[in-house]
Amino acid sequence: KVVTQDELKKIAAYKAVEFVQSGMVLGLGTGSTAKHAVDRIGELLKTGKLNNIIGIPTSKKTHEQAENLGIPLSDLDTHPIIDMAIDGADEVDPLMNLVKGRGGSLLREKMVETASKKFIVIVDGTKLVDYIGGSGLAMPVEIVPFCWKFTLQRLEMLFTDAGCVGKLRTEGEGGGVAYVTDNGNYIIDLYFDKDIGDLKAASDAILRLAGVVEHGMFIDMATTLIVAGESGVTIRNK
Ligand code: A5P
Repeated sequence: KVVTQDELKKIAAYKAVEFVQSGMVLGLGTGSTAKHAVDRIGELLKTGKLNNIIGIPTSKKTHEQAENLGIPLSDLDTHPIIDMAIDGADEVDPLMNLVKGRGGSLLREKMVETASKKFIVIVDGTKLVDYIGGSGLAMPVEIVPFCWKFTLQRLEMLFTDAGCVGKLRTEGEGGGVAYVTDNGNYIIDLYFDKDIGDLKAASDAILRLAGVVEHGMFIDMATTLIVAGESGVTIRNK
């Protein structure tokens, strides 16, 4: 039987939800993998197998999904300490560092997931990379809209050695309008043709630029990684 990528995402998500216990405050991730986890939590609440869960959504989209499922919701102001977060990722390197934000929710995800005692990352095998940027897909950076071209140039200049090219994320027909995040900001997608090396140094340099709000590298944050592949599920703890 051929297993689709979406089925693998679901397998990883359901496995993560096995670690959820009644009474937990839960960070609810965003994206096509995390969506399965949120669905599953909703189902277990409905059947009474879980109770007293409080969800902290990482995007407007997840907020809406969880609300429709009847999951009680709150926020970081009220619950600054989260027991466990479950979320997908775009890339996972051998040290369990991540790239997130292809779905555009990196800022809220990072706020919620840094406040979580445990952070379970759920992926199918295609997300595993040798180094951050290694998939050839974008590393997103959320920036303020003011003079975005200036910030884009400054970002590219930080990584000229890695052949960095930045693109403003757009949407709509013909890609005519800037994509706007839940926080009213823009996203610059950075592409590298080489390994950028020291991630902590890269992170510090990006965050020092005044127009930058946050970036999509989640360094040393994941505490558990669940990978679903053709040959089964693997679980790795930090
Ligand atoms: C949302 O902004 C992202 O960080 C997602 O968590 C990430 O893109 C993974 O999404 P998929 O599960 O849809 O691949």
